[in-house]
Amino acid sequence: MTSASTSSRAVVGRIVGRRRVSARLAFYDLLVEASATVAWSTTTDDGDDASRGGRLGDRSSSASLEGLGRSESVVVELVVKLGAEAFADEDALAAARREAFKLGNVVDVVGKLTRGRRDGQTKSRSTAAWVLTCEGVNEVVEAWATANPGKCFARELYVRPAAPRDDSAESKPGDTPAPCKFFINNGYCAKGDACKYAHDRAVQREWIAARKAKRREIAATQYGDPHGDAVANKSARAVKFAEWLRGKFGDDVLNAGTGILDVAGGRGDISFELFTKQGIKSTLVEPRARKLNKQQHKWLKAREKKFKTESDDGASFQKPELCEQIKTEFTSENWHLFKDCSVVIGMHPDQATEAIVDFANLYDKPFAIVPCCVFPELFNHRRDRQGAPVTERMALVEYLADKTGGSVEYLDIEGANQVVFRTS
Ligand SMILES: C[S@@+](CC[C@H](N)C(=O)[O-])C[C@H]1O[C@@H](n2cnc3c(N)ncnc32)[C@H](O)[C@@H]1O
Repeated sequence: MTSASTSSRAVVGRIVGRRRVSARLAFYDLLVEASATVAWSTTTDDGDDASRGGRLGDRSSSASLEGLGRSESVVVELVVKLGAEAFADEDALAAARREAFKLGNVVDVVGKLTRGRRDGQTKSRSTAAWVLTCEGVNEVVEAWATANPGKCFARELYVRPAAPRDDSAESKPGDTPAPCKFFINNGYCAKGDACKYAHDRAVQREWIAARKAKRREIAATQYGDPHGDAVANKSARAVKFAEWLRGKFGDDVLNAGTGILDVAGGRGDISFELFTKQGIKSTLVEPRARKLNKQQHKWLKAREKKFKTESDDGASFQKPELCEQIKTEFTSENWHLFKDCSVVIGMHPDQATEAIVDFANLYDKPFAIVPCCVFPELFNHRRDRQGAPVTERMALVEYLADKTGGSVEYLDIEGANQVVFRTS
């Protein structure tokens, strides 16, 4: 059996402790609260739906999840080490440690979730019940320094000693139990039927809908996003971006020269959409290995089946190809290799964000970029329109638009969805 605990999970939590072992390895305490703002995010390839996503614990396991019983939060040990997907080299790891893994930051991270170690054999010395071996950072949801200017982070602000057991609060026969926060956040509670709180799918659905509505309200009121609630979840971002690109630029423009240059394309989702599924010329520039997800494998299988059913000559089936990947960082030293591309694009391209627009400016290329993480310490030369350092995504969007004379539109997806672009 494949344990649910070994697949990738996205988890949102606040960093409340750290133990740096070396330049190659560090451990962080990630406080995951059973609240709307800092919660288990079970979004994986399936999207933002806790009921379908990962579960903290496996129903078939006998694991007792320390800390989940009475407290309102749980500390997960986050292991950040060289060689993991997004930390292929020391520079990438150091940048992530500097920018994302800072005390007090709320981070959205992805990795392999396993049960904690108690044997004292590891360097972590952690007794955390859960360990997330980090593969990458989706987003710094809240930077401590920005949210709390001039205030030092203190662990005690967030980690309280467990409250003493209050038996008077136990539900009595006939009482309607309160909803279980862990069930609501995870779609699962390790205590199962033994939990004294209610495990109710309808309540969980309502809660997820309320959280989405709140996020959308913030996007509309604070950021001017015009899409209201009619947005797809994050997992659809490659599909939506591909759709937007074809609509905005047109296939003839996209197919010119060597075609689209997808910089920092991660596992290659956008290239898969554009090149493999829709036949648009593309090249992926990404140091990490490409990886197909479940839906993409399924799509390839269905394509093959359809071909074999419809064709008399099933043997001549050619697997749809993946576009060429240049496995390197996108730096000014190699930009000349890409000067014949049609349009340079980047979806949440992290440290490559500004390089994309610099390349577009230098070679006079159309571009489209959806910025996500800011890395204010790494790119401390950036200034906003008031002359202050650029520390937030909105300011980064403005900065990039100002730098390029580009426009800004919103994709109809949740999360970081502003596209800065120029069509000529
Ligand atoms: C948050 S991921 C986004 C991946 C993908 N575009 C997506 O939306 O799923 C950021 C990616 O940027 C890549 N990256 C960071 N700096 C880069 C650079 N200078 N050149 C190429 N890729 C880079 C990382 O390897 C990582 O895969």
